[in-house]
Amino acid sequence: MRILGIETSCDETAVAVIEAANPPAWGKEIKILSNVVSSQVKLHAKYGGVVPSLAAREHVKNIRHVFKLGLKEAKIKNFGKEIDYIAVTRGPGLGPSLLIGLTFARALAWKYDKQLIGVSHLEGHIYSNWLSHSQEISKNNIFPVLNLIVSGGHTELVLMKGHGKYKVIGETLDDAVGEAFDKVARLLGLGYPGGPAISKTAEKGNPGAYPLPSPMIRSKNYNFSYSGLKTAALYLLRDLNIKKPSPKIAADVAASFQKAAIDVLVVKTVKAAQEYKVKSVFLSGGVSANKELRKRLTEETKKIMVIYSQPEIEYTGDNAAMIAAAGYFSSKNKKARDLSWDKIEMDANLGF
Ligand code: KG4
Ligand code: ZN
Repeated sequence: MRILGIETSCDETAVAVIEAANPPAWGKEIKILSNVVSSQVKLHAKYGGVVPSLAAREHVKNIRHVFKLGLKEAKIKNFGKEIDYIAVTRGPGLGPSLLIGLTFARALAWKYDKQLIGVSHLEGHIYSNWLSHSQEISKNNIFPVLNLIVSGGHTELVLMKGHGKYKVIGETLDDAVGEAFDKVARLLGLGYPGGPAISKTAEKGNPGAYPLPSPMIRSKNYNFSYSGLKTAALYLLRDLNIKKPSPKIAADVAASFQKAAIDVLVVKTVKAAQEYKVKSVFLSGGVSANKELRKRLTEETKKIMVIYSQPEIEYTGDNAAMIAAAGYFSSKNKKARDLSWDKIEMDANLGF
């Protein structure tokens, strides 16, 4: 079975084609036939963040070309015959951006009389873990899985008892962790997106240089809060009384911030993994590209003897292969399958 994935929830226009067993045989290898991502990052960098109306306009400009490229790379010549399902992100995300992908997907589904599957972007991130190690994952009984989803819009701990069975056990009460990386990078003059810039700068810094807080690290629940950490970084730079930090100070602040941001993620993930007695911990979302976070979670999950998975770097950011993979697994669900293309709606706030 071949599934076309479409993702336009933020500033990436993405189309992918995956091939997998039909009917879905859990854990059989997923082949990625194409994975095209057109990023608008340069356009939005000028504004220090994503401008929703500009993002939607770029999606309109790019989507046809990205779609054609996605089919060409996958060597799909006859869409009607060779594609079985169309999976599209229906939320959460920026409303104007989501609408472009959803409308494009609906038009395709209508024209070719295909089943359309609406996918939660967060579910997509979770399934990025199935893109590269699906055979490995299948060898083990992985459920229940504890998912740590960390991106520019979300910081969530989601318990997954099986495919499509989710329970959110913790989330951010204010800013997402990726957003904090982006904002602190801006304070340090490191540009946008801030995550990769902070993590690179932090490599040369001392994480113990400045004591920044890890908010809610000792709270009894699994929620997070990142706005206080961002403000603490702002006050730190103000107290240091410097307009433009030297490379040494920037590296030390970046490393101290990164440590504070990651400590709370690791502590809460390990605690939740033990309390809920999970078999596995899966990391996903744009911030899952962070080297330090990957290293720390690899080490800490080994200590508590749970299976650990993290997506390959190329699938950490927004892409359509992960949307197609999530669509593939929910195509087994009759309720999802029975929805016709005109019943799937955009939902900017959709979660699980
Ligand atoms: O999942 P994603 O591509 O888009 C959303 O769904 O939000 O995540 C983007 C976020 C941005 O905040 C970006 O700064 C962050 O992921 N990010 C990183 C790294 N690479 C990307 N954060 C920390 N370290 C990184 N290496
Ligand atoms: Zn994302």
